[in-house]
Amino acid sequence: MFGCAEVVYQLLKRGARKMNKNELKQWVSALPKVELHLHIEGSLEPGLMMALADKHQLVLPYSSIEEVRSAYNFTDLQSFLNLYYLGASVLIDEDDFYQLMWAYLCKCREENTVHVEIMFDPQTHTERGIGFSVFMAGFTRAIKQAEQEWGQSCLLIMSFLRHLSEQSAIDTLDSATPFLSDIVAVGLDSGELGNPPEKFTQVFEMAGQLGLKRVAHAGEEGPPEYIWGALNALDVHRIDHGVRSIEDPDLIAHLIDSQHPLTVCPLSNTKLKVFEHMQEHNILELLDLGLMVTVNADDPSYFGGYLNDNYHALIEHLPIDKYQLRQLVENSFKASFMSEKSKQRWLENINTD
Ligand code: ADE
Ligand code: ZN
Repeated sequence: MFGCAEVVYQLLKRGARKMNKNELKQWVSALPKVELHLHIEGSLEPGLMMALADKHQLVLPYSSIEEVRSAYNFTDLQSFLNLYYLGASVLIDEDDFYQLMWAYLCKCREENTVHVEIMFDPQTHTERGIGFSVFMAGFTRAIKQAEQEWGQSCLLIMSFLRHLSEQSAIDTLDSATPFLSDIVAVGLDSGELGNPPEKFTQVFEMAGQLGLKRVAHAGEEGPPEYIWGALNALDVHRIDHGVRSIEDPDLIAHLIDSQHPLTVCPLSNTKLKVFEHMQEHNILELLDLGLMVTVNADDPSYFGGYLNDNYHALIEHLPIDKYQLRQLVENSFKASFMSEKSKQRWLENINTD
């Protein structure tokens, strides 16, 4: 893949001076970064959840923030989704959605996450009678404010819930018509097993015709066939998760060749028992094989950490070096939907040392 001079240069760079774990953590925290796999509803912190429940006089099965946190002991994806949908039920008016988005964007500023592509689940709200005009107004108010105040770059991805029917996704796409200028892509999330990508072929095709990009969760709990399904039936630009690709050598060869990005979420994967321990995570194996792997937080409030925490967990538990970390950060810029010009500008910026 590299020419001879490039190989020597890379080896020299890797051997130049070995940073210890704390230095690596500080270094990656300070780098400009991108996040590509983040569910805004999964950034709802227990404090805001309790405050909004109070505001709307809703009863939650928790009496304190500590009780909320101690309920976050998941055995698999579904056990998490049950609490995630319960938590989202406190989001009711425009200001609730504004506050949710604002809190996450402030975190981006703190962590130097300069560009984010944020997923939201319309059906989680429309099924409760809360319309697009409510949540889109709250989201876009916060996004515009962050753009104005510190130049935050942010795009929105509208995700369909795969446990619901394709017709429900089509109706959702239809309801989104007046808001499409604020949406860059469609996605597919929720319970993976038993809901293969092919179930959503038609709605993804419609989204493509509307000029929307496409991403889908696949190969988190589901088998490699679901990754093939997302690539072939949904024509996705990126795979969310995709860690089970390792089970299919033909798929690995294809992903190396096509450079379809995988948005990997290390803390999510250990919290949901995709891997029992971080030491067993395959992200470095995928990276070293030449796949376009990126690091992301998924649902930071539920999984114990934002983007920097995910990089820190890799540094703490895997034999990752500065070169591999930089590659992961660079990959996120390359895998994003930002303009080629912006990508080049940022890539030059992070390659100065
Ligand atoms: N919705 C929010 N987080 C998710 C995840 N990790 N997998 C599937 N659906 C989700
Ligand atoms: Zn996700």
